[in-house]
Amino acid sequence: MTPKIVPAMLPVDFARLGDDCVALEKAGADRLQWDVMDGQFVPNITYGPDLIGACRPLVDIGFEAHVMCKDPEWMVPKLVEAGCDIIIIHVEAMRQPHATYQAIHKAGARAGVALSPGTPVDHIENVLDLVDLVLIMTVNPGFGGQAYISTMEPKIAAARKLIDASGRDVDIEVDGGISADTIAGAATAGANVFVSGSALWKYPSFDEGVADLRAKAEAAAG
Ligand code: DX5
Repeated sequence: MTPKIVPAMLPVDFARLGDDCVALEKAGADRLQWDVMDGQFVPNITYGPDLIGACRPLVDIGFEAHVMCKDPEWMVPKLVEAGCDIIIIHVEAMRQPHATYQAIHKAGARAGVALSPGTPVDHIENVLDLVDLVLIMTVNPGFGGQAYISTMEPKIAAARKLIDASGRDVDIEVDGGISADTIAGAATAGANVFVSGSALWKYPSFDEGVADLRAKAEAAAG
């Protein structure tokens, strides 16, 4: 499985957001992650479906929404309408997780579940028939630029074991503090999709960053 590199649309220049989308697509990113925050589930506010939809026509690259909102279910059809084909919601914010995954599929998207660092991996045990992606947070959600939490690596490995045992094709995505120094640990543990924000924006160019992160993930995965 070729590792996927997914820029987090958080450290963006909001005055030139469209340009960043185009540049990231040109740099070979696999898709873009939109960090949707409502100031309720996390102490930060970013953007919603309207802003994502405004960027949709600018590029062909896939969009995923990482939803960090309280009572997020109402947003699912609006995010799909805005052009997101993967909707990732925090299990900590879901009232009825199984029903939420069903609703995401009914809206026409693939379903992702995000687990904050303190949430056990067993939340995915009985829903691997409905979940297309498991996002294991390697920082506490809400802000970019935080330090990678390496104690999440056993959790990544446990998720990989559960998924492999299920025989299902489910991606393991990691998000938070993913950089040239940390991506190998996450890849070795079993992740195959890597979200990067601040580290990617620190490279001299997006091309160099996407290529370097992918090469390091590939080398670690063996
Ligand atoms: C946290 C966000 C961040 C962002 C990536 O809620 O989800 O993790 O995507 O930020 P960096 O790569 O700067 O840690």
